[in-house]
Amino acid sequence: MAGREFRTQVAIIGAGPAGMLLSHLLAADGIESMVLETRSEEYVASRIRAGILEQSTVDLLRGCGLGERLDREGDRHRGIYLQWPGHRHHIDFVDLTGRSVWVYGQTEVQKDLIEARNAAGQEMHYEIADTALHDVETDRPCVTFTDTQGRERVVKAEVVVGCDGSFGPSREHIPMDVRRHWERVYPYSWFGILADVAPSTDELIYAWHSDGFALHSMRSASVSRFYLQVPNDTEPDWSDDRIWEALAARLGHGQDGWALVTGRITDKSVLPMRSFVQTPMRHGRLFLAGDAAHIVPPTGAKGLNLAVADVALLAPALAELIRKDDHRLADSYSETALRRVWRCTHFSWWMTTMLHRGEDPFDEQLQLSQLRWVTSSVAGATGLAENYAGLPIGL
Ligand code: FAD
Ligand code: PHB
Repeated sequence: MAGREFRTQVAIIGAGPAGMLLSHLLAADGIESMVLETRSEEYVASRIRAGILEQSTVDLLRGCGLGERLDREGDRHRGIYLQWPGHRHHIDFVDLTGRSVWVYGQTEVQKDLIEARNAAGQEMHYEIADTALHDVETDRPCVTFTDTQGRERVVKAEVVVGCDGSFGPSREHIPMDVRRHWERVYPYSWFGILADVAPSTDELIYAWHSDGFALHSMRSASVSRFYLQVPNDTEPDWSDDRIWEALAARLGHGQDGWALVTGRITDKSVLPMRSFVQTPMRHGRLFLAGDAAHIVPPTGAKGLNLAVADVALLAPALAELIRKDDHRLADSYSETALRRVWRCTHFSWWMTTMLHRGEDPFDEQLQLSQLRWVTSSVAGATGLAENYAGLPIGL
């Protein structure tokens, strides 16, 4: 391992929400980190992804000094609408659980994190290549990479954290005979649409429809976000008219006087859906957080929130380990984090299978029965509300 050496306490691979929030929380605890990222700062700050923050995420962001713009520009929602043809029901999380959710895009969270870390002088290496992990089973793990000038670099650390999402190298660095994974690939994808139009609803609408699921979400008072269930491998080349017609039909344009307002579409993309969990989330001096360890289908709006919950547990665990040589929280991190991961994995699977059109008419009747129960029973609605608005961190 030739090349210039850096030293830091925590080498963080990935500058997504998990990696950036971890470096922020560690810095607040006096722990130094270095963040390594394959993409550019501009790319990371502009990726369109999740849109909903749960109560614990908002509490955590406020508590660590990242709540100012969120409080100014974020939109607090009491609940969501669940609908199927001829029916639209509001589920009020505040009445049912005392907790709410916020519409504040992942793009905004990411920009706030980048601004805070840049202001604090955080050492970042963007646009790197050839990220590789070494010696994680020793007390002196390290990460090597090639920098933008083509020079090989070595980062010697006390701990390495893989926050490198679903395609990064960290997850697979845990030996085959140690790791285990569970996976469910769904037979449909989401066609995501961003449009310059005021939302036609005050809160999100999750719609079951015989043509397939649709979701009306939003980013601001003038930007709406929509999703349509489509077959896997669909190309995002639908005409704007075709998109608006599909959304109008599935979201119930004309039903009880409700109208879908259309506007200029600014982005079209197709996202595959899968559930994935890998255990353990720690091996030696390597820890995994966020999508590096688990992926959920987006129907429960949990991906970003789970990444935040992981690093909220991990930051104090690493601080105790590094500052006091106290291993207790680090040793229990994987087990504690996985309790919430599996709860959210179940909830995301449950929302997905309740709302997406399958092939089997028997399943369709079960879905409609489930929707009627969730929207008419306080017990049913409370279960959904408790999971959607989010359980406390540490569960
Ligand atoms: P990421 O945000 O994926 O960050 C990982 C980072 O690691 C990336 O910046 C990546 O470039 C970097 N990286 C990868 N490999 C390397 C390497 N070798 N070396 C260095 N850096 C590396 N969730 C929802 O709840 N709702 C949604 O609508 C939704 N939409 C999504 C759309 C897409 C296209 C994707 C991919 C995810 C979506 N998610 C959604 C999930 C949510 O965005 C993620 O759960 C969240 O981003 C997890 O954060 P993370 O920091 O763990 O991972
Ligand atoms: C979004 O606004 O991108 C969004 C909202 C709710 C979801 C998934 C995505 O369940």
